[in-house]
Order: sequence, then structure tokens, then C-alpha cells
Amino acid sequence: MTHPTPLYLDNAATSYPKPDAVYASVIKYMRENGASPGRGNYARALEADRLVYEARKAIASLLGAPRPSQVIFTCNATESINIALKGYLRQGDRVLTTGYEHNAVARPLKKLEDQRRIQVDRVPCTAEGALDMESVKAKLQDGVRLLAVSHASNVIGCVTPLEELVAAAHERGAAVLADAAQTAGAYPVDVTAVPVDMLAFTGHKGLLGPTGTGGLYLRKGLELSTLKEGGTGGMSLSPFPPDDPPDRYEAGTMNISGIAGLRASAQYLLDIGVDAVRAHEARLSGLLLDGLESVPKLTCYGPRSAENRIGLVSFNIEGHDPHKVSMRLDRDYGIMVRSGLHCAPEAHRLLGTAPIGAVRASIGYFNQPSDIERFVGALGEIASLPPD
Ligand code: ALA
Repeated sequence: MTHPTPLYLDNAATSYPKPDAVYASVIKYMRENGASPGRGNYARALEADRLVYEARKAIASLLGAPRPSQVIFTCNATESINIALKGYLRQGDRVLTTGYEHNAVARPLKKLEDQRRIQVDRVPCTAEGALDMESVKAKLQDGVRLLAVSHASNVIGCVTPLEELVAAAHERGAAVLADAAQTAGAYPVDVTAVPVDMLAFTGHKGLLGPTGTGGLYLRKGLELSTLKEGGTGGMSLSPFPPDDPPDRYEAGTMNISGIAGLRASAQYLLDIGVDAVRAHEARLSGLLLDGLESVPKLTCYGPRSAENRIGLVSFNIEGHDPHKVSMRLDRDYGIMVRSGLHCAPEAHRLLGTAPIGAVRASIGYFNQPSDIERFVGALGEIASLPPD
């Protein structure tokens, strides 16, 4: 049997492929530089330092952050969210969140409920992810200190109305943490136009960089207690971390090879423009939603229109286990998608798909309309098979 050409549709887990410049940049740093940034004064160490600064500057531009120093590098969005939540929240604080958060938000909040007695409340929302804004405003009156929300759900695909939420939260004295794991690089994010206080992102999804990279944008003047302490390359006599970002939050040698790749991917996105990426992915999402409608016995979850969602669609085929659907897609058609709960059980509870979950296809910038056609054709064949 000839193996079908692989078709990757799991970009919400991690994007693939990366722009060629990303591979080249990682190799170039590792082969030709190899020094630790911020730790030495010989030329190569200074060049490594420059590389990190360039990466910070490019990411700050992509996010609309006024200063590169407001971008802290971490190893992923999960670490960024942990820094934000554990660094900001104090004993007994009240937090408002959505009912479709990823475990990256839900689990640290759970731990803080147990350890710091914080009180977590969830905003009611529909299975399409629409939030009840009146309820948000009412709940914010109650002394909420932080609103922690996904910018877009990795299961439902809905985009959170961040602008409205930030205005409502700030009016009532609450800060906002946005989890942009599914949007940064693939959907417009502008922390100046929509002044969130903290925004967590990952480098390896929409930003098209290597795994093991990510970051946290911090509003100027907002100081968090640190999640980890250690060497920062300067102020070494002090037993305490420095006060200023980014060093305060970046103890230990950073993932410089990953950041070299992230610098290249951020530059690639600045060159083509996030709006162009968004337009391409929205077009493919529209084709995908239309195509899925033609597959018998298939139920799609989330907003009907591609306008209101990011480039992913979760679905189930009646009588077919989602894990078996994804295994068949891989084995018989060479198509890679993710099935199950996607580390976001709350979103699946909202959809009524817990505990088994759903199949999720997620588009990337390098997918083409022909990929969608091929995927929909394969699903049509699977849906015509006898139930599991
Ligand atoms: N949270 C990532 C996903 O949705 C890994 O697949």
C-alpha cells in the first residue's frame, strides 16, 4: 500500500511546518554562536544578548507592546500563566474566569483556591462560547481583583470579546490576564489598543517558532512576586531578584536556541503581517465549516461563522469514537488531527462532549484549500463506515 502524503491539521497543538528561516536561525545560533546571553562580555556573548533583544523587540511589535522590556521570555504559555496568576493573586482574592478555560488557567487557579483561599467564579456562557456580558459586569462589582480569560478557546474556537471585557474590568478596578496561546501570531493582538494588564503567549503555535518558547507581556508598572529565583546575569550581590522586568522574571539561562528561532518567526510574521495570516486562516476555516456541513452524521461545535472563530473546528461523527476517527484519519489518509479533551475539560463540559471529547482539526498558515477538500473527503468516507 502506498502511504498518503502527510497532511498536518494539528496547528492548535503546535504549528508545523515552520518558516525555513526558523530552522536556519536555530542551527546558525547553535553552530556559530553558542554563547549565553547576558552572562559575558566577549563578542559572541554580546551577540547572543543582541539576538535576545531583537527577539523581544520583534515580539513586542507583534503584540503592540510599547517597550521590548515588557516582554518576558518563558518556556511556554503555561509557565507564563503560572507566573501571572501566582505572582499577582494574594490570599483571599476573587477571580473571574470563563467556563471554557484550558487547564493552563484552570489548574493553577485550582491550586490557588486550595493554597491561598482565592475565590474563583465563572461567567455563564453558551455552547458557542458567547459570554453573558451583563453577568460579567454584575460579577465584577463583587470585589473581583483579576479577570483571567482565554483570548480564544482551543476547543470551541470562539474569540473572547477582550476589548469589552477589559473596559468592564478596568471600570470596576479589576486587572485582566489574557491567555493568547491560540491567538498570538494568528489573530490580531494589540495590548495598546486593548490594554490588558498581562498577556500570556506561546512561541510555537501561531507565532511559528520552536517549542520551549513563550512569554508574558506585563503592563508597565505592574510588579509580580516571582515564581522562581536565581541568577539573572547582573546585580549578583543582592540576595533578591532585580526589581525590573524582564530580568526579574527570567532567572536561569534561557532557551536561547529556541529564542533564535522565535526571532526569525516573529520577523517572518512582521513581514507578511498578522492580518494576512488571519485572512488566510479565516478563508480556510470558512471552507472547512462549509465542507463539514456536507458530511452526514457530523456535528460541528462552536460559532457557525468563520468570522467569529479562530482556525480550528471541533466535531464528532455520530456512532464513531473521536479517537478512532483520528486514528483512521492518520492510518488510512495520512491526516493528523487531535482528538479527546484537548486539556480543556471545562470547554468539553460546556459542549456536552465530556468525558470522551471530540475530534479537532486546526489550520495553519501553510495549509491550502486543497487540504480542506482532502480532509472533508476523508471524513465523508469515515462517516459512511458502520458505527464503532
Ligand atoms: N493546548 C494545546 C492544544 O490545544 C496543546 O492542543
